Amino acid sequence: VSHERAVAFAPGRVNLLGEHTDYNEGLALPFAIAQGITVRARKGGEARIHAEALLYSEADDFPLTHPPRTTGWRAYVRGVAAELGAAGWPLTGAHLRIEGDLPPGAGLSSSAALEVAVCLALIELGGGSATDGTHGATHSTHTQPTARPSSHLELARLCARAERGWTGAQTGLLDQLACLYGAADHALCIDFQSLDIRPVAMKLGNWRLVVLDSGERHTHADTRAHTHSDAGYNQRREECAHACELLEVHSLREIEDDDRYDALALLPGVLRRRAEHVVGENERVRTAVTALSTGDLPLLGELLNASHRSLRDLYEVSTPAVERTVERLRAAGAAGARIVGGGFGGSVLGLFAPYARPPADAREVRPAGGAHLLAP
Ligand code: GLA
Repeated sequence: VSHERAVAFAPGRVNLLGEHTDYNEGLALPFAIAQGITVRARKGGEARIHAEALLYSEADDFPLTHPPRTTGWRAYVRGVAAELGAAGWPLTGAHLRIEGDLPPGAGLSSSAALEVAVCLALIELGGGSATDGTHGATHSTHTQPTARPSSHLELARLCARAERGWTGAQTGLLDQLACLYGAADHALCIDFQSLDIRPVAMKLGNWRLVVLDSGERHTHADTRAHTHSDAGYNQRREECAHACELLEVHSLREIEDDDRYDALALLPGVLRRRAEHVVGENERVRTAVTALSTGDLPLLGELLNASHRSLRDLYEVSTPAVERTVERLRAAGAAGARIVGGGFGGSVLGLFAPYARPPADAREVRPAGGAHLLAP
């Protein structure tokens, strides 16, 4: 049955550890946060979508069939509608109101939240089941998503296709999976080789995680056209692909064993540094899972610091503004701090022991539930 109205919420995410590992078939440890994007949808008379983004004080209007290409936030909305249509989901004309409390471009994945919220709302409005009958949207009026693993994965892939195909940013699946599978009080240990997703309890006690905005915008959810940071991100992907070619492996995951790791020494310097980051980062994710399960939060802090060093020196995705932000967190007594997300700006994550006080403009983040429908 199709619905006259639908409301969908999709959260942003913070990646505790495992940066630039998703497109390298590695490991990551993200969690969904309470902040996110809400899409209020109602059926429209014509085969068009009218979208009002209160977040950006902008609007868009496009036909359901063959929406023209565009840039900025509109590309995510049009891309999701187009991908849903291409995948055989029944769509109807709609008015969308997009609201939220996720700062765009701050590394908290407002783009995936926008994609997933639009996706869930349009599916619900269109009747919620695709032509081949194997699909199904998350449907819950509570804060927890219904367990529908295969369809979550499918929707994550669909949203990622929309992002890649419509914005040109060749991002992986990290953000969409975190957004859809997020669970209160848990991080998700995601293995991007097997796509195994395991909730890991985040027992922080009185410790706090905060994000501090570097003030520097990367482009993913920017309302302007894409700039250098997408170029930097895509370049990292190409470098990893090139390293795999030279090493004759399918993905950097395969060089974890010792024999293959030694081959890294033969790579050109830049490629060797990229690969070393990925291998080290996967290992840090494994150690972090242990640290969380044993409640060793000082160790988690050290892992955050080590990850930041690696992202700065080996993966080279930090910027002077990000470094200043890391310094501010450390000066305030953070046990660990690192850049989060794709890099080239965005936010810095800091871990604080109970007695330490984060800067006043930092905001606390806690693991919260994944994307879900709300009662209209
Ligand atoms: C961005 C991308 C993700 C992931 C991270 C880096 O957030 O959207 O797919 O690659 O960067 O870990």
